[in-house]
Amino acid sequence: MNVMEKFQLQNAVAIVTGGARGLGKAMATAFVQAGAHIVIADKDIAEALAAARELQQEGQQAVAIQVDVTQEEQIERLVAQVMEVFGKIDILVNNAGIALHVKLEEMEVQDWFNMMNVNLNSVFLMSKAVGRVMIQQQRGSIINISSMSGIIVNTPQCQAAYNVSKAGVIMLTKSMAVEWAQHHIRVNTIAPGYMKTELTRPFFEGNSTMVQQWLAATPMQRPGTPDELAGIAVYLASDASSFATGGVFVIDGGYSVI
Ligand SMILES: NC(=O)c1ccc[n+]([C@@H]2O[C@H](COP(=O)([O-])OP(=O)(O)OC[C@H]3O[C@@H](n4cnc5c(N)ncnc54)[C@H](O)[C@@H]3O)[C@@H](O)[C@H]2O)c1
Repeated sequence: MNVMEKFQLQNAVAIVTGGARGLGKAMATAFVQAGAHIVIADKDIAEALAAARELQQEGQQAVAIQVDVTQEEQIERLVAQVMEVFGKIDILVNNAGIALHVKLEEMEVQDWFNMMNVNLNSVFLMSKAVGRVMIQQQRGSIINISSMSGIIVNTPQCQAAYNVSKAGVIMLTKSMAVEWAQHHIRVNTIAPGYMKTELTRPFFEGNSTMVQQWLAATPMQRPGTPDELAGIAVYLASDASSFATGGVFVIDGGYSVI
């Protein structure tokens, strides 16, 4: 087989959580361009519907389903709906996430739990529900979006809860990869550095000392753009990465190297 054919996702079905905007939308766009049908699973249904409409222009099916990825019943409903419409799930991207900058000694307990629920427990809940389908199918690729903050402590902001949640995503990825290799399900994580999205836009627009420190500590001296995750996402979703599982793919302009 020609190597470029291995990157094709012709008629594959992909769920992208938090796919209404930012990195999730960029990965969903890349999947559609590679031939996949897309389910945008997001809490913000208005933005998810707008993203799905935009993706339909590429000629593949794109649907938006409202889900809060911290809620198990909503996830069960999502998976049932996707199976009803498409009859299979080939790719799951656990991308929905939040960030919070707060000193540990000032952090509210509820904010800590919320961070773990949205960033980490959601990956468990979504993967459990979709994993059951993939085990039945004996096929699937799961991509979890962690962060370079799951590997290093980036500064100057205080974000212990975020860092811990993303480190957890990395270990959950490795654990799932080992448990589910026997079912031909591959599980990998992408660990991005600073990327320009709605999540980070307020910081970049302010061009604060903090942003200047971020960029000074990045060998490439710039943030990434969402489309710069497209290549790795298609690689991990497709047969091009058929021997890759449990991997941590760092895309950070070199930040975590120095
Ligand atoms: N932007 C960065 O610099 C960066 C760097 C490293 C990792 N990441 C990670 O990448 C992922 C996407 O980040 P982004 O910058 O695109 O963020 P974003 O805020 O632009 O988009 C996040 C999306 O997730 C959705 N979402 C949030 N909570 C949800 C919930 N409970 N249920 C369902 N959907 C929910 C939002 O509605 C939104 O559409 C996150 O996990 C983030 O931690 C981002």
